[in-house]
Amino acid sequence: MPQAPFPMTRHRRVRATPALRNLVRESELSVNDLIWPIFVRDGVGIEEPVASMPGVLRRSVDKIVEAAREAASLGIPAICLFPYTDARLKTQLCEEAWNPDNLSNRAIKAIRDAGIQIAIMTDIALDPYNINGHDGIVRDGVIVNDETVDALVKMALAQAEAGADILGPSDMMDGRIGAIRAALETGGHQGVTIMSYAAKFASAFYGPFRDAVGASGALKGDKFTYQIDPANRLAALRCVERDLMEGADMVMVKPGLPYLDMVREVKDRFGAPTYAYQVSGEYAMIEAAAANGWIAGDKVMLESLMSFRRAGCDGVLTYFAPRVARILNG
Ligand code: PBG
Repeated sequence: MPQAPFPMTRHRRVRATPALRNLVRESELSVNDLIWPIFVRDGVGIEEPVASMPGVLRRSVDKIVEAAREAASLGIPAICLFPYTDARLKTQLCEEAWNPDNLSNRAIKAIRDAGIQIAIMTDIALDPYNINGHDGIVRDGVIVNDETVDALVKMALAQAEAGADILGPSDMMDGRIGAIRAALETGGHQGVTIMSYAAKFASAFYGPFRDAVGASGALKGDKFTYQIDPANRLAALRCVERDLMEGADMVMVKPGLPYLDMVREVKDRFGAPTYAYQVSGEYAMIEAAAANGWIAGDKVMLESLMSFRRAGCDGVLTYFAPRVARILNG
């Protein structure tokens, strides 16, 4: 076959101008895709930097309300609260987790009382309240599953009572979604949604987060007996399937960028609302490289978020949320 004197296809034609590129773009990143994780601490009028996450703050409840108001005004649909709990409140049985007046629940109520129109997401896991730093109750060195689920159910109900819209079980115990869903149904909270951390891997990318919530010092050992081995794709898919069957409304893959293959597969296979968590270590890597002038921070941030959308995410939990929103809002 003689070679034609011109390329049979010229993919560059539709890349030639911004107008043509806009016309053929397959994925969009919008402010509606953002969930902003924020850290709550005790006190009044406090905004304290997190050393391992430049640009991220721990805020007292009054400042959390301000942050929620700012997020709402930027059009961000949801924030996700993580408490930095005083070491003195951490116990073996993690009772502070279901205290209706714990830091996280006080923050939820304060945002609700302020009448701010934003969805409030929570984290359900015992690590902020656990003297052992684990997501579950530890007995004789073992993370006990069913007793932890009972505690998580109490925690979930307290968060729903406080006014949370989206509960985020991140603990990876077996049976927690079904147990929480049943308790919500029978407890008068039929409308409260669950975003399950379904495909949550045992990752070293969570390091800076554990500093942010003050759990790294406390953690004894690792989380490999409950979080998924990073090598295991099929195990993760079975967890997602199980959580959807048990009543999760939305599912999450975590971490984000190194696990985009899982996002695509979860979306294609189950078609459920699918989210990814661009975790603390991912944030820290981008920020550190940008601070050194090695990468263009904002561009890498936007490209990484577009990649989540291309992979099939309906939304992304990202510490970049307000910064991205400001750029997208122009
Ligand atoms: C708690 C929880 C963790 C994260 C979210 N919820 C830490 C962990 O599982 O050790 C990590 C978030 C991040 O790294 O940004 N179970």
